[in-house]
Amino acid sequence: MHLDSGHPLAAGLTHDSRLIRAYRGDRPSTTPVWFMRQAGRSLPEYRELRAGTAMLDACLTPGMASEITLQPVRRHHVDAAVFFSDIVVPLKLAGVDVEIVPGTGPVMAHPVRTNDELDALVALDPAVLDEALAPVIEAVRLTVAQLEHIPGTPGPTPLVGFAGAPFTLAAYLIEGGPSKDHMRARALMHSDPVAWSRLMAWCADVTGRFLRAQVLAGASAAQLFDSWAGSLALTDYSDSVAPASARTLEYVHDITYERDGQTHRVPVVHFGVGTGDLLTVMHEVGADTVGIDYRTPLDVASERLGGAVPLQGNIDPAMLFAPWSTLEEHVLDVLRRGESAPAHVLNLGHGVPPDADAEVLTRLVELVHSR
Ligand code: CP3
Repeated sequence: MHLDSGHPLAAGLTHDSRLIRAYRGDRPSTTPVWFMRQAGRSLPEYRELRAGTAMLDACLTPGMASEITLQPVRRHHVDAAVFFSDIVVPLKLAGVDVEIVPGTGPVMAHPVRTNDELDALVALDPAVLDEALAPVIEAVRLTVAQLEHIPGTPGPTPLVGFAGAPFTLAAYLIEGGPSKDHMRARALMHSDPVAWSRLMAWCADVTGRFLRAQVLAGASAAQLFDSWAGSLALTDYSDSVAPASARTLEYVHDITYERDGQTHRVPVVHFGVGTGDLLTVMHEVGADTVGIDYRTPLDVASERLGGAVPLQGNIDPAMLFAPWSTLEEHVLDVLRRGESAPAHVLNLGHGVPPDADAEVLTRLVELVHSR
């Protein structure tokens, strides 16, 4: 399927931005930089706007979601906006009773533990999302229109859409909330492989539709977050998880556009935490760029990926609290190691901590852009 001619990639607005060039492996002279969780509690303007509105209500109010997405671009002049939403938004829109509890994360009213509970879940038809996603689509459209002209940025800023990978969603659905080692989820994988496959397929379809909707509405790249995949052994990841992530990415792989006489796909980034051993499989499920957490140095990651894959990462978020000279040295080291990949997008090795100093983030962007 072709993108609309008005889509920022097809219209030539973001195709040659630093970010999209880097995701294609075409290293720009200035390294692009953005931060996972750049929108959020580290920004006073976010805290003010969000006061009195529940997280998921904010995600589903287009004007608010759009404004929150734009705030860090205006403030830090980062090379990407990341759509303000959450990985559990499509679950909620599909009919799952989920809430985001401040300081905890997603909590399910009815964890999926028995076969009857699984039957009830997969009876929710992912196709309902096509209509339920209207506020998400509206928020993306509003955001993309504004991103064309943000003072202090080099030109139209690309929007990154995202979704949670099936395993991370399944872990929340089974555990009922955040958990340390995802024991119940990993136990189900082995105790009832049939139930596991049904659950993963459902998650793949729900989250895939969410990602596709963002891309069609105007996102210039798509990032799949498998935040908890690092709790898995490589064989479990390859056999029982990777096929579902590949199925999710099929929802965006058929979307193409023409530019410079060539047909391009919308770039896909795949990120997880503690996934140093899984990187090659995470690439093979259909990612163009692999996101690296702060534990694996970028040159080591690049070597594992045959030196052929653009990388994103991997400032240790804890370094944001160090004296500037220590942080600066760390950033320069990350940039140097990133040179071993065909292209590098500077990011954190996980999300911005809520108590990070926003001014440090702005200074970090200036440092990367001055190189
Ligand atoms: O990166 C961005 O700026 C875009 C926004 C974004 C949010 N969630 C907004 C959010 C993204 C990309 C996510 C993804 C997400 N959500 C992941 C994958 C990335 C990761 O961090 O590993 C996961 C695991 C979730 C689930 C989730 N939602 C958690 C663990 C939490 C934190 C709970 C807390 O209060 O500490 C949330 C809530 C959430 N999602 C917040 C934001 C800005 C904080 C809510 C608030 O400010 O009230």
